[in-house]
Amino acid sequence: MDIEAELFDSQTQLLLNTVVHDLQNGLGIIDQFARFVLADIGAEHRVAEDVERIICSAQFCQGVIRNLAILNHKGVFNPTEVNIETIVADVFSMLERKLANVRLQTNGNGPATIIADEWQMKQVFMNLIKNAGEAMPEGGVLVIRFKRRDGFLWIEVSDTGSGIAADEIGYVFDLYFTSKEGGSGVGLYIVKEIIHRHGGAIEANSKIGRGTTFVLRLPETQGVQSSGFRVQNSEP
Ligand SMILES: Nc1ncnc2c1ncn2[C@@H]1O[C@H](COP(=O)(O)OP(=O)(O)O)[C@@H](O)[C@H]1O
Ligand SMILES: [Mg+2]
Repeated sequence: MDIEAELFDSQTQLLLNTVVHDLQNGLGIIDQFARFVLADIGAEHRVAEDVERIICSAQFCQGVIRNLAILNHKGVFNPTEVNIETIVADVFSMLERKLANVRLQTNGNGPATIIADEWQMKQVFMNLIKNAGEAMPEGGVLVIRFKRRDGFLWIEVSDTGSGIAADEIGYVFDLYFTSKEGGSGVGLYIVKEIIHRHGGAIEANSKIGRGTTFVLRLPETQGVQSSGFRVQNSEP
């Protein structure tokens, strides 16, 4: 790396660390006080659901911030037993308002549990489901299939949306590749990073006008060891 790039890099990292720290604090406060409000008004109150959405959103944003740290190679891996099916359902309900006329179908054999970082898995499915929704502005079907095989959980995420052109599909996981006005091109890059760091793999198959399927493979238990992450001391 030349000296200029190195300087830029260290300044960017400094900025990123500050942003991560400050936003983490701010979001923590939103999360905490929204919980106080919810406890105060009770679950039956007419705005309780809205307050729950604030909490979900604050938590989701905290996840995004953690992934900024991943981009900055300071990611910490906090492995626990997570159920991917539950994560999909949570994320889907969080995005419900943006997914008008999108129907969710899940099917699989057995529990979709693996050892993984829960926040990072939420980030993966948040990005995949958000993209699927954006590809189906008129609505459609989102199908999520699970299969256990050879120590891996295989997950298919299929939509009935616009599809991806053959000359673009090779770039969709690249950082900053976007075909959307106002898109960031960060989502699928982060998805791929997280999956790789869990010792897994991901690929995209698509037919223009028909839809897109992302196929993910995640190790049931061994992903933690093969990751490049610092593993946080997890609770006993
Ligand atoms: N489900 C999908 N259907 C069609 N195209 C998709 C889908 N998911 C991703 N893409 C394509 O991949 C690109 C990169 O996606 P992403 O990294 O999430 O960035 P962004 O959503 O900001 O454009 C999108 O702009 C789009 O062209
Ligand atoms: Mg996206």
